Amino acid sequence: MNFAEELEKKRAYCEAVLKAYLPCPEDGEGGSQTGRVSHFAGKVTEAMRYSAEAGGKRLRPMFLSETCAMYGGRKKLAEPFMAALEMIHTYSLVHDDLPAMDNDDYRRGRLTTHKVYGDGMAVLAGDALLNYAYETAASAFDRAETAEETGRVIRALQLLMRNAGVHGMVGGQCADLEAEKKDKISAEELVYIHEHKTACLIDSGLSIGAILAGAPAADIEKLHTISSCIGLSFQIQDDILDVVGDEKELGKKTGMDAEDNKITYVTMYGLDAAREEVERLTGKATELYDSLTADNLFLRELLISLVGRTK
Ligand code: IPE
Ligand code: IPE
Ligand code: MG
Ligand code: MG
Ligand code: MG
Repeated sequence: MNFAEELEKKRAYCEAVLKAYLPCPEDGEGGSQTGRVSHFAGKVTEAMRYSAEAGGKRLRPMFLSETCAMYGGRKKLAEPFMAALEMIHTYSLVHDDLPAMDNDDYRRGRLTTHKVYGDGMAVLAGDALLNYAYETAASAFDRAETAEETGRVIRALQLLMRNAGVHGMVGGQCADLEAEKKDKISAEELVYIHEHKTACLIDSGLSIGAILAGAPAADIEKLHTISSCIGLSFQIQDDILDVVGDEKELGKKTGMDAEDNKITYVTMYGLDAAREEVERLTGKATELYDSLTADNLFLRELLISLVGRTK
């Protein structure tokens, strides 16, 4: 199997795991038994599924599953966290697209959730995805077989919550919104925005998989640094694609950062320097990755492939 085939197979696996956990209407098909929702809350359930099932690269759950496997961890413990992380990521996108935030009409090749269900229902779908994510991740306690595994689930849950909240993604989104009102921001502020709004959820992927598998503490520390480099370069590449990317391939409109008065690596340093920074950060991440005590060639290739991504 070549890299592209393997990537697609793993993407489909992440999607299947997510689907198995998503809530569904009481008379609907699929989903778990505990995920059945009263028809009075049918609309928000539909909106949750609309955004979560739209597709996407599923990178964060893939990172989680790959680092867990790399350190010999169990799929059964990783899967609730994979689904939870993709729910959190999807919620962040639903809220990010709202008119009060980035005001985007397209996402993952479809109309955004608020365009289809209205702003109020999109706010609720995001809230529900976030809460359901924690409920889902907490179900891993029932799968822990030893006190040691229970301890890992506790640590994983703590990191999942911290990386999503004010110390993580929400903190970054706050700084991102504040920056929109300014004509100039410092390099430090820009790094803060990217590392928090984007790198933190990437860290939830790479680090939680390792935590659940009982990886050495020194490796988990390195994975935090790798996540910060990969997250930063991932967001710089997202900013580059907002300028030079193809809307059809991306599944979202380009030119939106300029419309929203965003200061990005591209506006601050120019396209060439931004591209060089993506390369430099990925190189730094790869070097550190090669010093880990375990190896996963697919994950290594995946991290490197993000440099040239076009979607
Ligand atoms: C989009 O994330 C938001 C950013 C952090 C740039 P992805 O590019 O991973 O989006 P999907 O999940 O593939 O749609
Ligand atoms: C978003 O960054 C990061 C999130 C936390 C959702 P962007 O606002 O640049 O992401 P896109 O371009 O809308 O996907
Ligand atoms: Mg945004
Ligand atoms: Mg946006
Ligand atoms: Mg963007």
